[in-house]
Amino acid sequence: MKRIAIYPGSFDPVTNGHIDIVQRGLQLFDTIIVTILVNPGKKSLFPVPKRMAMLRESLSSLAGVEFDSYDGLLVDYAKQRGATAVLRGMRAVSDFEYEFQMALMNRKLDRDIQTVFLMTGLRWIFTSSSIIKEAAQFGGDIEDMVPPVVYRELKKKFHPTGSSA
Ligand code: PNS
Repeated sequence: MKRIAIYPGSFDPVTNGHIDIVQRGLQLFDTIIVTILVNPGKKSLFPVPKRMAMLRESLSSLAGVEFDSYDGLLVDYAKQRGATAVLRGMRAVSDFEYEFQMALMNRKLDRDIQTVFLMTGLRWIFTSSSIIKEAAQFGGDIEDMVPPVVYRELKKKFHPTGSSA
């Protein structure tokens, strides 16, 4: 039987930390479906099609990765796709409470779907899409934290005249 995991997130935008989690996840699962879902607590910078295009370009070299987006409950989507696991990256202790809550809620909603947490590589432990967006907005150098396509898109978004970042 194929082991399928959903890797859900906002991916607004995808970072090198996300890519690291997909690479690690591929050691455990045959297929990882990277799925953009709605996080009602976050206001997005990029529209879903642009986020999807950046994900596809950044992960195109990896076999066993599929892409999708879904507007609804993660566990419903996982069931529809025949997935038995949800993959999430864990960085620091600060992630724990939110991730713990979400994993327990998902388990309450569907007992057959397991959440698997993987540690990101130490290089990415302090990065997040939010902090990268903030740094990029104010001209900080984030080039080594994101895939090239994301670097270009952030530059276009915040510094269209090429002034900095
Ligand atoms: O990258 P993020 O923003 O931390 O990802 C959070 C996300 C999108 C995975 C989460 O908000 C989610 O699963 N949204 C879909 C609705 C849902 O099923 N929520 C969890 C149970 S209430």
